[in-house]
Amino acid sequence: MAVSSAPGKVYLFGEHAVVYGEPAVPCAIELRARVGVEKRDDSKLRVHAEDLSLDGFTVEYGGPTDGHPDIDASESLVSAAMGYVDGAIEQVRDVTGEDDVGFDVTIESDIPLGAGIGSSAAVVVAAIDAAARELGVTLETDELAERAYRTEYEVQDGQASRADTFCSATGGAVRVEGDDCRPIEAPDLPIVIGFDGGAGDTGELVAGVRNLREEYEFAADTVETIGDVVRQGEEVLADGDVAEIGRLMNFNHGLLSALGVSSRSLDTMVWSARDAGAYGAKLTGAGGGGCIVALDPTDETETALSFTPGCEKAFRAELADEGVKQLE
Ligand code: MEV
Repeated sequence: MAVSSAPGKVYLFGEHAVVYGEPAVPCAIELRARVGVEKRDDSKLRVHAEDLSLDGFTVEYGGPTDGHPDIDASESLVSAAMGYVDGAIEQVRDVTGEDDVGFDVTIESDIPLGAGIGSSAAVVVAAIDAAARELGVTLETDELAERAYRTEYEVQDGQASRADTFCSATGGAVRVEGDDCRPIEAPDLPIVIGFDGGAGDTGELVAGVRNLREEYEFAADTVETIGDVVRQGEEVLADGDVAEIGRLMNFNHGLLSALGVSSRSLDTMVWSARDAGAYGAKLTGAGGGGCIVALDPTDETETALSFTPGCEKAFRAELADEGVKQLE
């Protein structure tokens, strides 16, 4: 049995625009998905998942084309999570050349599904790392990030950037622009997260921005403007000016809102954080519901968010310096 964990992330800047070649800066946070993998004697894949912000469930099936007979199809988030595990195992079969190998996979995650803080990337990264090690292969971080990216790309119908998976594999703050992914320096940021208890559909939200961009020139300009905010954000991150980072996050949220990926609850939490004195606040990830990220060194934002209608949970998140970790 091999067990790996990988962290979730928040986007300081640049989600959605990164899909069109603009830069983005996600940073890993200490909320982790842990994936245990044990080789089977047959070629089946059996997945047991707990704590995915849903009731625990178990599913057993013969392979990628067999469907997920034990899952109620209406549990679309669960099915989506299974798609990522399936894809991750396919990558491991491919990289090791063991085409028919089967596994028992156990997932435990602190990261709510589809909430914009990197649940799928963390599960995919940890699953690939653990399954490869279970077969005696330790992947270099770059190969692991590449395989995890290919998994997300396929599951999301060709609509994924390298940002989430690279960040989860390496940890820390990273800069991603197209194929160019690298770690960057970031100050110790006072990150507060507000979670509305919901989730967005990444594929749909990305497709929505794509359509808007094709239909309206100003939407294409908005995507480019997000790129400008990110470039400025990188300079400010290097200076460690947290107040200015927050200000730029506010701009970034406004631009994401203009692209139609915010929601009432995300906007309400963003304003609640700003009213409480946060340096800045924005949605994180694909949007549509899920989480906001705010910067506040005091307890004010966390307290205000915990009383904000529509906010189910508010908590402080530490930066995760380490990406994927081998636990067993
Ligand atoms: C989703 O976490 C981030 C998006 O930019 C999509 C992607 O980068 O793959 C919306």
